[in-house]
Amino acid sequence: MNTEVRRHKDFGAITLSDESNGRNLALKVMMMPRDTNPYGTIFGGVILSYIDQAGAIGARFEIARNNYPAQDLVTVAMESVEFHQPVFVGDCVSFWTELRSIGKTSITMHITVETDREGKVTKLTEADVTYVSVKTDGHTRRPVPIRGRKLD
Ligand SMILES: CC(C)(COP(=O)(O)OP(=O)(O)OC[C@H]1O[C@@H](n2cnc3c(N)ncnc32)[C@H](O)[C@@H]1OP(=O)(O)O)[C@@H](O)C(=O)NCCC(=O)NCCS
Repeated sequence: MNTEVRRHKDFGAITLSDESNGRNLALKVMMMPRDTNPYGTIFGGVILSYIDQAGAIGARFEIARNNYPAQDLVTVAMESVEFHQPVFVGDCVSFWTELRSIGKTSITMHITVETDREGKVTKLTEADVTYVSVKTDGHTRRPVPIRGRKLD
């Protein structure tokens, strides 16, 4: 793996990039006993929550990298979620993000969840998550252009 540490002036965080695969390490988490389902493996909802966070971090990085203004992002859809392998207590799990697409008001990220098992990288879960850039006014929200241009 060919990795590089990147810092973006507007993102305020260091990102570890895997250049060969065009993806960024958004989160790394140790799975704890509190995260288990009744069968003793990690509850899928916990993984989905981390996927949502990781995708948002990755989306913010892509927005900054493209020199778009900082955005309020909300999750509109989680698609193509596949749980390939169970996750165990004590697994140190990495959440990698790749840009799928940028639309008028939305950004879609692909998140790959991996761990090391006996020296081998094991793909655990993957998903596509779409975030929408919004302006909030009281209880109402409206999508706004992700590149920062005015609405038509
Ligand atoms: C996000 C939200 C403001 C979008 O409102 P909306 O009326 O659906 O807006 P639009 O139909 O104009 O769609 C906005 C963008 O989202 C995309 N989008 C909407 N539904 C989508 C879906 N199911 N899958 C993928 N993209 C979707 C549209 O394609 C559009 O993208 P584009 O502008 O890049 O082409 C509204 O759905 C909302 O507030 N949802 C709740 C979000 C939230 O609270 N998330 C936290 C989880 S509880």
